Amino acid sequence: MKFERFLIAGVAVFMAIMWGRAMFDKRGQGVADSTARTLGIYSPHLPANQREQARESLAADARRREHRFIEAANPGSLMASTRIEQEAIDANTVPPADLYQYGAQLFHYRFRRADGFGSKDAPGLRRVQTGRRGGPDAYRCADCHRRGGPAGAGDAADNSYLDGDGDDVRSALERNPPPLTGAGVIELLAREMSEELRGQRKALVAGAEQQGARQRRELKSKGVSFGFLSAMPNGAVDARELAGIDPDLVVKPFGWKGHASTIREFVEDELLLHHGMESDFLVRHGSPDRIGRYGRGNSNSRPLDPDGDGVPHEITEGQVTALTMFVAMQELPEVGMPNNPARVADWTNGQQLFDKIGCAKCHTPSLPLRSAIYTLPSRDRRTVLSIDLAKHGADRRLSKPATDKNSDYLVYLYSDLKRHIVGPNLREARPYRGVSAAKFRTPPLWGIARSRPYLHDAHAPELEVAILEHSGEAQRSRDAFAALNESKRAKLRVFLTSLTRAPRIVSP
Ligand code: HEC
Ligand code: HEC
Repeated sequence: MKFERFLIAGVAVFMAIMWGRAMFDKRGQGVADSTARTLGIYSPHLPANQREQARESLAADARRREHRFIEAANPGSLMASTRIEQEAIDANTVPPADLYQYGAQLFHYRFRRADGFGSKDAPGLRRVQTGRRGGPDAYRCADCHRRGGPAGAGDAADNSYLDGDGDDVRSALERNPPPLTGAGVIELLAREMSEELRGQRKALVAGAEQQGARQRRELKSKGVSFGFLSAMPNGAVDARELAGIDPDLVVKPFGWKGHASTIREFVEDELLLHHGMESDFLVRHGSPDRIGRYGRGNSNSRPLDPDGDGVPHEITEGQVTALTMFVAMQELPEVGMPNNPARVADWTNGQQLFDKIGCAKCHTPSLPLRSAIYTLPSRDRRTVLSIDLAKHGADRRLSKPATDKNSDYLVYLYSDLKRHIVGPNLREARPYRGVSAAKFRTPPLWGIARSRPYLHDAHAPELEVAILEHSGEAQRSRDAFAALNESKRAKLRVFLTSLTRAPRIVSP
């Protein structure tokens, strides 16, 4: 009799545990497969015909209204619609257009406490971030990346205060949200450059070993010089003469300081820093100074919740992938010529001046790109997602001249993707993520007409102020600009103003 009761109690406890597990599952992965769906709101397509554009914008607006009602009636359904699982992506069942959609939905979604927004110690918005834990300082990506078109730049009031004490703006580093245009293509350029530089180092080291003597050579990729590297006969290298790049020879094109090499690492960090949304990957691999020290205890029976807000599984691996691909598939800016013929003549002169006064030394007008295939290896499995950015993503995409399909793509980026010292006006109080206080990566100038205000902390309200702030390595170029008469300055401004984005009727 006693034994029977013991058995029944045992079975009851077992059932309760299983039920509990099922519930946790439901919060996290379980629920996702059945509900993730694209809402079809964010078309990457941009019809050239403006009537067609207007019709599409209105139709998207109507769908968005309807989805607001769905969310009102059933809170959480919009977030659920973005919870794509990596398994589905790995199984190759999600076409690029859908990945773009899931990513776009997440980018425009306003995170709620119930989704895991914030953390136990920082549940609400704060203006100044705390170290690598971050804010939260906004409810959605599109609150900051918004001006000039989708995934655009931020205004001065959208500035973030990074790496501070959570309270005093003077403790933090002030940063203006850059536009995310062409991000995938920028990463591809950087990857090809890093690979070429690695090849040059390998050859140099092999040469030094073979000759039994110290060898020194210039490292150069896509016409951009990264200074000199020396190799010793014993295989050691001397990186002290490198310029604008770390000794690891990885070109890091993202962040004003040029501290990140991939969109995925940036996106994952942005989710954490601005929204307190922790990806499953960070929860497993992030250090406690980034993700928090809560919810690490009995991890066998409870899912991990290091930010202690009571919500495990805030962001799935599939969501990180979708958001990464959405950013990678952003449109390329374009050159928009003035209509007035007199202005066109100014433009031509302005373009020549840009080169003549030395702006092009750092803001390299174009870089050649061999391949448009953006690959993203799965971090859980051995599959690789691979998307051709010339075929998929938001209009305008990469294209080649019809006459020469074997040539490289030419990317009119206006950057060398290198770091430079541009003088005391453009210097911060301390280093950031290992990059010296004085150094900034040359920001791409494509689309510059649509990303006012300028410079890393947005302190230049217009182009000319930004130019005059340059000194250091840019001293001669800046002085050459300052010496131009007003009519020549006007031409340069006309040229820079043509670096813009495709015209569109409504920016979401
Ligand atoms: C509070 C404003 C704010 C929000 C919200 C925000 N960002 Fe950013 N974003 C920034 C700032 C500021 C930078 C520049 C950071 C730096 O230089 O280190 C940046 C940089 C980036 C970059 C690197 C771009 C480049 O070319 O250097 C990416 C990618 C990015 N953000 C994506 C996102 C995504 C995805 C989200 C939503 C999860 C998001 N951001 C939310 C302010 C914001
Ligand atoms: C030595 C390299 C170098 C030269 C030469 C140079 N720049 Fe820059 N430029 C930079 C760097 C680095 C920054 C970012 C500085 C910052 O944000 O603090 C920058 C920023 C800018 C910005 C602001 C971009 C933005 O998105 O906010 C503009 C505009 C600009 N430069 C135009 C020019 C023009 C025009 C010339 C020629 C007169 C020129 N630059 C010469 C390196 C250079």
